[in-house]
Parts: sequence; C-alpha cells; structure tokens
Amino acid sequence: MDNNQLNIHDNQRPPCGGKLDFPEFLEKKLIECDKEIFQPRKNGKPLVVGDRSPGPEAIVLQSNDYLNISSHPDIRKAQLDILQNKQSEPVMSAVFFHEDSPNHLFEQEMAQFAGFENSIVCQSGWAANVGLMQVIADRTTPVYIDFFTHMSLWEGIKVSGATPHSFRHNDPEHLERLIREHGQGIILIDSLYSTIGDIAPLVDIIEIANRYECISIVDESHSLGTHGPHGSGLVAESGLTDKVHFITGSLAKAFAGRAGIIICSNRFAKYYPYMAFPAIFSSALLPHEIAGLRATIKVITEGDQRREKLRENAKFLRDGLDGLGYNIASQSQIIAIEGGLESDTELLRDALETRNVFGSVFMTPATPKTRSLMRFSLHSGLEKEALQYVLEVCEEIRDEVGMWNWKSTKRKSPRS
Ligand SMILES: Cc1ncc(COP(=O)(O)O)c(C=O)c1O
Repeated sequence: MDNNQLNIHDNQRPPCGGKLDFPEFLEKKLIECDKEIFQPRKNGKPLVVGDRSPGPEAIVLQSNDYLNISSHPDIRKAQLDILQNKQSEPVMSAVFFHEDSPNHLFEQEMAQFAGFENSIVCQSGWAANVGLMQVIADRTTPVYIDFFTHMSLWEGIKVSGATPHSFRHNDPEHLERLIREHGQGIILIDSLYSTIGDIAPLVDIIEIANRYECISIVDESHSLGTHGPHGSGLVAESGLTDKVHFITGSLAKAFAGRAGIIICSNRFAKYYPYMAFPAIFSSALLPHEIAGLRATIKVITEGDQRREKLRENAKFLRDGLDGLGYNIASQSQIIAIEGGLESDTELLRDALETRNVFGSVFMTPATPKTRSLMRFSLHSGLEKEALQYVLEVCEEIRDEVGMWNWKSTKRKSPRS
C-alpha cells in the first residue's frame, strides 16, 4: 500500500464519491474551461504549468518571499515553540479574542510597524480586501478603482454591491474626471502592481482622494516589508501615512506567512470584527501562525541589508533586460516579460524552462487574453551570477521566441 493512503480496509471502504454527473449548466462551464485553458496547449496542461518541475540546479524566480526569510531560524523557532507546547488552543473566530490575546498583540505590532493606530489581522489578503469592502461600501457608493488593481478588491466591490468606476492605470487625471462626474466615494489602488511591478503615483492619487474627501485604500501586498523605512511600505516612504484611510496587504509576500492585514484607525478596528463576514463567519489564524508573524515583523524591521540586496538585484535584472530590447515596465522586484499572445508566452516559458529558468506565467483572468506574460519575482538571496545567467538565457532566446515581433517590444521601440 502507498504510504500516503489512509489505512482503511477494502471491506470498510464506502462506495467511491465524486462520480455523479453534473447538470448541463455546470457541464457547459467545464467544457468552456477545457477549451480555453487546456486544449490550446501543446502539453495539454494549463499555460501556467510547464512540462518540467524545477530541479536543484534551477533558477526559480517564482516566490513572493522577497526578503528570503521563510526559513529564518527565529521565525521557525517561534512557530515550533507554540507547536511543541502541549496546551491546546481553541480553534475559533477572532470575535471571541480578548484584548491581551496574541492576535491582538500582533495587530498592535503591525500598526506600530506601519505608523498607524491599529490593524486587523485577517486569514488572507483576499479576505482582508473583500471583508473591508463589504463593510465600508454599499449599492450607493461610487468606487474608483485603477484598472490593474488586484482581483480581491474587484471582488470586494462585487460583494458590497457598489458600482465600480475604473480609471486608466496610474492615471490620476482620469480618476479626477470620474470623481467630478460621480461624486465622493472610495478609491482603490495597489501601491506596487503585482503583474508588471510598476508603482502607483501615490502622492497625486492621495492628494485627489483628500481634496474630494474620498476614502482611500492602498493595497501594499508587494511593498510592505520591501519598501519604506524599515520595510514599512510605500505609503510611509511617500510621507502619506496620515493621509490614507486604509492600507491592506497579503502577509504571504515579504512576510512569507499565510495571512492578511488591514491597517487602520482605532475606531475602525473596534467595529470591523462585528461587521465583516470573513471576521465573524470564518475562523482566526492559529497560535503558531501568529507567533511566526510576530517574529517576522522583527526580522523584517531589521532587514535593511536584505532590502538593499533586493533593490540591487532588481535593478541589475531590469537594466539588463531593458538593454537586451525587452520592454520592461517594472520599477521593483517584480519584473514581467510580456509575450502577449498565449502561444508566444508558451514558447517563452518553454525556452526558459529548457534552460533551467523558472518564472510564473500570468494569463487570463490575471491579464487580458492578448497580454499574457512571464513574471520574474526576485528575492534578496539571489546571487549576481544567477541573474547574469538569466540575462544570458534571455539574450540567447530572443530570436527563438520571436521577441522582436511581440507587440510589447514594438510599443517600446518600433522596428521599421
Ligand atoms: C496585490 C494583492 N492583493 C491581495 C492578494 C491576496 O493575497 P493572499 O494570497 O494573501 O490572499 C494578492 C495575492 O496575490 C495580491 O497580489
């Protein structure tokens, strides 16, 4: 018997589940997914999954652990100390926690880290954004959202029933025109965009938010830990801490955990747990996860060298790719190469993976269908030699993958 199988004797096994037919309405959706995602592919797998897994020699540019701390001994130890403690903790919703619970202490520490009054720890960045929007918006609220803002905030708009007014990416003038047309509301942006790695014009957007008395929410998933004084984020770096209502974030990026955060005022933190459905109707993080996160804040705060190395690595790869003719919009550790058509990105993925370089493919619904891309996420543990090798590979494959003919390349420097 396979070691991973549960030890249930055959005569005790109930009939196998999962074999019922689906009604037509679901069948149709599955067939559609098959046509879109599986059938056009050479390997019969979705575009995001290549033919091979990275081996020990591979250069893997897929992780969001930007400061390379997921196996930091202080974080591991903090988790283990709790796991080895025999006392069992209740598994329950966060509404039942008292003020001196480790969860609330972590919230205080996160608030201090970002320079805010308070914060609310959530099960994920997704839950943070959806829960926040459910609480603060309703059908009557105009919501202004940058077109590239993360899907979780779009989902939050849906859940709240509000009407989205989407403005052109990083275009404050367009935002202002929409606010003049539809009135006071909520503005949603990411500080650092997770697909192409560019940065929002925070000062201009937050100035507009304050002038029109709108609520501002900045998703700092990809800049908390990596940017700003002691990693406190781009809002802090831009001197906007006292001008923004909410910072949200996934703690599954530089914080390398499994959680999300809403950074906010004391007043809001008091009410949120009793208003947000993901807080009321979904259980809280486990004690060892909270202990790990509390240790992580300390590692991140003391991580200036890691941040410096990350910045150097990112600049080295961005400049190198740009010099090779690739159209790189990135201003950060997230660096995307836009193959555009899915067939072109498939070719690119295969060319890279054959040479032992692994990035992450982004395709619909993460990008428009004709703007699929290969995303490289860098971290501070990467050495220059590895990045130099990536550049050599990217140089070698330009003709093979048709880079000169991509729309993204032509947008950069049209070839006559
Ligand atoms: C900008 C942004 N916000 C929110 C999320 C959701 O975070 P989580 O993975 O913790 O649910 C992500 C994750 O991809 C993200 O990139």
